[in-house]
Amino acid sequence: MTDANFPVPDAWAQNALIDKLAYSQKYDLSVSDPEAFWQEEAKRIDWIEPFHTVKDTSFNEADFHIRWFEGGKLNITANALDRHLETRGDQTAIIWEPDDPASEGRTITYRELHALVCRFANVLKAHQVKKGDRVTIYLPMVPEAVIAMLACARIGAVHSVVFAGFSPDALAGRIEDCQSNIVLTADEGLRGGKPIPLKANVDAALEKVAVDHVIVLKHTGADVPMVEGRDADWHGAAAEAADHCDAQVMDAEDPLFILYTSGSTGKPKGVLHTTGGYAVWTSMTHQYVFDYQPNPDGSMPVYWCAADVGWVTGHSYVAYAPLINGATQIMFEGVPNYPDHSRFWEIIDKHNVEIFYAAPTALRALMREGDDYVTRTSRKSLRLLGSVGEPINPEAWDWYHRVVGERRCPIVDTWWQTETGGAMITPLPGATDLKPGSASKPMFGVKPEIVDNDGTIQFGATEGPLVITDSWPGQMRTVYGDHDRFFQTYFSTFPGYYFTGDGCRRDDDGYYWITGRIDDVINVSGHRMGTAEVESALVAHPSVSEAAVVGMPHDIKGQGIYAYVTTNADVEGGDELRAELVKWVRKEIGPIATPDVVQFAPGLPKTRSGKIMRRILRKIAENDVGNLGDTSTLADPSVVDDLLANRAK
Ligand code: WTA
Repeated sequence: MTDANFPVPDAWAQNALIDKLAYSQKYDLSVSDPEAFWQEEAKRIDWIEPFHTVKDTSFNEADFHIRWFEGGKLNITANALDRHLETRGDQTAIIWEPDDPASEGRTITYRELHALVCRFANVLKAHQVKKGDRVTIYLPMVPEAVIAMLACARIGAVHSVVFAGFSPDALAGRIEDCQSNIVLTADEGLRGGKPIPLKANVDAALEKVAVDHVIVLKHTGADVPMVEGRDADWHGAAAEAADHCDAQVMDAEDPLFILYTSGSTGKPKGVLHTTGGYAVWTSMTHQYVFDYQPNPDGSMPVYWCAADVGWVTGHSYVAYAPLINGATQIMFEGVPNYPDHSRFWEIIDKHNVEIFYAAPTALRALMREGDDYVTRTSRKSLRLLGSVGEPINPEAWDWYHRVVGERRCPIVDTWWQTETGGAMITPLPGATDLKPGSASKPMFGVKPEIVDNDGTIQFGATEGPLVITDSWPGQMRTVYGDHDRFFQTYFSTFPGYYFTGDGCRRDDDGYYWITGRIDDVINVSGHRMGTAEVESALVAHPSVSEAAVVGMPHDIKGQGIYAYVTTNADVEGGDELRAELVKWVRKEIGPIATPDVVQFAPGLPKTRSGKIMRRILRKIAENDVGNLGDTSTLADPSVVDDLLANRAK
């Protein structure tokens, strides 16, 4: 089953922007002559001033630097909004679908979106936000989230979106790290009928770190306290602002946004993306991966990326690329299982969605509920399906293909990362025969390689750490405030290459199969979590002396969180403390970090030098206990017996 080959359907081979021949020609050019390739692709962006150098990059420590389209000047919102006004001003840009299907949705044309963004950009200016200032955005999936991001980009401010599911503590840490002085939020968010107290979370965060301004969107209408002199009402402020705002002229390498993501160690990193390369890269990948072009009747296909704007997928493939490409897109506030498990498919029918892009975790959860929820809807508008965020297991792939797409829709399984800005390894619907579970082939300009543990490139069919050997325009440029950490994290493991943190297999046909993270990052429901983050939350609890966290297989989430906890000597671990610790982690980080298992352990398996042997903890969590490997180097091998005896069933 896993190697089954699904050839490109004829209609796609004939009509797609990129067919097999175009893929191989363009790919070859993109890696043999990147300057020529990107010179041409950069034409998709309107430059205020042309760039003089396409690419100037080096991954070597001695002269490490990454610069694309130097000398070029642009504003990304001029590309996402202004240039559409003449040709598609009255075309719908965003169709907003609320959490509750009985509530009123919204449609926003390009002309309206332009005005809303300009107006809010003026609100930001009135709150002293200037080019280069960091603006924290903590909003639900409402159009104002995109409006806020674009308003920042309009005036050259750097947005830092914090997923609205993060806790006040996590929010405070991110505000502090990038020293932002303003937070944009809403009274409440709504997910599956449940209110999320966003303003209350902001107030709690601001007890730890002060900012001068908070702008609050009235969304549910909940009564939220406003702090005199600090808090302003979004609509009130917007009503007073003009709807014209010149787009700030930005250098190609000026920062566009920061997005925090988890790594193997320490606090989440502020991944920084810049303007020109990101604009070219995201719009190009969006156009080719989703074959985004006008329908035969001239209309633009309705496109729906179900990711939250709190994650990179929502940045690249909701806020920026679709708008740059003049798309009509859905923005959905809610969840796939509310009011019931048909919601995705009902929205697809309601708005004639042609292209749908979602995470495997949602698909697995829906698959479990049976086919009826899908088959009772029509889905006849669907032409193309996409997957992102984690490996899609062949069973879920098959279900997505057979039941949701009725075998007529190709699936683009896009592998990429917050750091990469856009899709790196992915099928193209008109060019790639599909193998379920394989992200297949590299995007133009991407040079993936599989190395051995010494960093030597392996040829042919092989498996090992995945690296990228040359830069691409959408690559992150630094870790905000810590350039050294950027180099150390990504370029020091295998010198000269960008290390992805993922393991990968390449088969005889040159298809890439991502096997998952090989560092201490786990992927829970497509959300990245550093084991170190969960550990530090646990040890912050007064009863905990030590903690080690690993991933465990989970049917729906892909990976779950398995925590080994050593309590202080005077504390007994039991169900009560277990429940308390779970609650504690949710409060410290957010519900996405909820441990699935907490196992109390009097000792953790450590080497004589004190390093925790995670390999053993992983095996126990995976229930692969026949295969623990060599435990003789442990300082105290008997701790393993205890771990095994008390393993969570
Ligand atoms: C994983 C999300 C397999 C991978 C865009 C990567 C995937 C991490 C896929 C990045 C895929 C993402 N197949 N694994 N199609 N897409 N991943 O930064 O482990 O939230 O390193 O970016 O998700 O997660 P991030």
